Amino acid sequence: MLIAQITDLHIGVGKDIGAKDNEKRLKMVLASLKKIRPQPDLVIATGDLTETGSVPAYRKLKKMLEAMPFKVWPCMGNHDDRGNFREVFGDAYFEDGFLQYVLESDEARVIVADTLEPGKHGGGFCEKRAAWLEAQLSADSSRPILLAIHHPPLFTGIDWMTAHNDEPWVQLLRKTVEPHDHVKKIICGHIHRPISTQFMRTGITVSAAVAAQIGLDLSPIDPDQPDGRPLVVDEPPGFAVHLWNNGQFMSHFCTAGKFKVILPYGKPMTKAMRNVFHVRPR
Ligand SMILES: [Fe+2]
Ligand SMILES: [Fe+2]
Repeated sequence: MLIAQITDLHIGVGKDIGAKDNEKRLKMVLASLKKIRPQPDLVIATGDLTETGSVPAYRKLKKMLEAMPFKVWPCMGNHDDRGNFREVFGDAYFEDGFLQYVLESDEARVIVADTLEPGKHGGGFCEKRAAWLEAQLSADSSRPILLAIHHPPLFTGIDWMTAHNDEPWVQLLRKTVEPHDHVKKIICGHIHRPISTQFMRTGITVSAAVAAQIGLDLSPIDPDQPDGRPLVVDEPPGFAVHLWNNGQFMSHFCTAGKFKVILPYGKPMTKAMRNVFHVRPR
């Protein structure tokens, strides 16, 4: 099973920050996704779908996604607005007032959960959401679960963007996920950088953003002393591909764009390729 992840699209209209750039960057990512072989079974967009959460921005995004040969499954981020999203995309994704749902396949279950806390940059998770997630996690332990949320529920090292392990919402999410060994992978966005680490016994990864990336600086930041560090950088848009194989999820991090092919697999390469598989039979 192959699951593609795009995140932090920050689609805007008019004078929204990055409106033109982010539209261009999303087109680059979608064009790259169309070329993946084999094509992903699922494409998930892990939040910050729009810059301001406005209805016109969701309409623009909907139009862009509808032109794709695959469906893109949404998730809420801190830049999103549930009401406006619902107005444009409909009610289908909502339960208990949150954008949360389960995608079932023979191989795995994908749970999309909601960490949006309106007015807050960081994440949120409440008893209502925890009860819903607990019910989904308990419903079936025979198949692995991939959990998709916007905010990484742990310290990521990017001081001005990160959550901390002792935040109440993080602790509630930990408590909810911890008893369930079959949660094999958590995928997030929000940090606008690729990151890979552990969340208790579960692998957790953050994908690079569609929109501009966050500069890599792991030193503490002083809100009263600007140090000139690059906060946001014009690195290319990225996405991730998660492959369920041999009992584990494996994540590949990709950069979107058109790149010169240095070595195509043409006839001159067949001898070398046969040698590879002679030494390492499949
Ligand atoms: Fe974002
Ligand atoms: Fe975010």
